[in-house]
Amino acid sequence: MSEFHVRAVAEGEQRACLEVLEQALHARPSADEAWAKMAPSWPAAGKFAAFDDHGTPVGIASSFDTELTVPGGRKLVTAAVDGVGVRADWTRRGVLTTMMAAQLEDIAARGVPLAALHASEGVIYGRFGYGAATFGKGVVVERPRARPRDGVGRDGVVRLVTQSEAVERVPALYKRFEGTRPGFVARPAQWWPGFFERVVTGDDGYRVAIHSGPDGDDGFVIYQTIDQRDRQAPERGALLDIRELHAATPRAWAALWRFLLSVDLVSAVAGRGRPVDEPIAELLTDPRAVNTTEIIDDLWVRLVDVQAALAARTYGAADPVVLEVLDKQLPDNNGRYAVGPDGADRSTAAAHLRLDVDTLASLYLGNGLFSDLVLAGRVEVLDEAAVARADTLFHTARAPWCGTFF
Ligand SMILES: CC(C)(COP(=O)(O)OP(=O)(O)OC[C@H]1O[C@@H](n2cnc3c(N)ncnc32)[C@H](O)[C@@H]1OP(=O)(O)O)[C@@H](O)C(=O)NCCC(=O)NCCS
Repeated sequence: MSEFHVRAVAEGEQRACLEVLEQALHARPSADEAWAKMAPSWPAAGKFAAFDDHGTPVGIASSFDTELTVPGGRKLVTAAVDGVGVRADWTRRGVLTTMMAAQLEDIAARGVPLAALHASEGVIYGRFGYGAATFGKGVVVERPRARPRDGVGRDGVVRLVTQSEAVERVPALYKRFEGTRPGFVARPAQWWPGFFERVVTGDDGYRVAIHSGPDGDDGFVIYQTIDQRDRQAPERGALLDIRELHAATPRAWAALWRFLLSVDLVSAVAGRGRPVDEPIAELLTDPRAVNTTEIIDDLWVRLVDVQAALAARTYGAADPVVLEVLDKQLPDNNGRYAVGPDGADRSTAAAHLRLDVDTLASLYLGNGLFSDLVLAGRVEVLDEAAVARADTLFHTARAPWCGTFF
């Protein structure tokens, strides 16, 4: 059987690596023009690939450095892992495992405390220490029933902008939202060409609307309308599908929703990956106009440096707990950590709760409860009283949400 070896991607090898990814994700190979738009988002830096005996790439694992907001508001440097795929004729031979090991070793050696990714399937990344740390909901709002309550969303002005105005204005506007919620991921310069410009200037008919309030632009929405009108069923209009909606203030947020619900010839407004606690129904006279269609995992997080990550976030008011953390890939993380309202540090005290590093990652941003994971057998309890304390310490009032695909 032929062998593979994993190494950092060299300058000029990116496009061949992208082809591996496109094949793995069932995407069409990028034409030259699409690649030209994509290339700034695909530097060689941060990429590890597996090569066969002939030097042809057969697997790719990519990442770029960004910042992730943790509970309490600190922004931690985070390796955003994107572009992971193995060519179909090379799967289940350990290619991903070898690439993940090389990537994690590199992230740890660079002193980056966190890694994060969006997973194509739920079974892949737990074994590498990642846990699902934020969730998003799918919603369908039936437009004919969805009337905003009196006065809701009437502040400021919403205007549709041209593609070029969107490309010029939205990146600067986005900076207003960074850090407002745990889980939020900053969008570095290299993110915008591939994930925003390409979408907004592409052929899929995306529209961008910006809201302005007393302090200028403070929110935007990107959406497309899918026409499904039928003369025989006049009540059936287009589906308005939200790609992104971000707002810096509650007023901007409500005004953008009012705008979406006002677009004519639309029978439903749909969104995926919305914050699980986004109170859309509460805007409306008939809360049953909003149907939650799914709750799905959003950002998976890996604590690369457990001590630095635990010390960076804040905690609720409860007596400290001592966690014993088990980490197979990065054994430097193995050990006990005392976590309390005054912070977190390594400890020699007896452990109250024992858990794997992927389980800790799933709780790290404030989502979920230790007590639920005790029920599921994912947290071993050595001191029963510590479970409720750990719930209070880790859980956040606002649900963590990422809101950025990469
Ligand atoms: C997911 C993917 C990268 C895995 O690559 P791979 O080289 O086959 O993974 P490995 O051989 O290192 O597998 C490691 C382990 O994970 C398991 N595994 C990996 N991918 C899996 C999957 N999709 N479903 C179930 N198990 C999977 C393997 O069975 C193996 O388990 P084992 O150690 O118990 O034998 C590859 O299947 C792929 O490219 N899929 C399509 C693209 C995609 O989903 N990319 C991820 C984007 S986030």
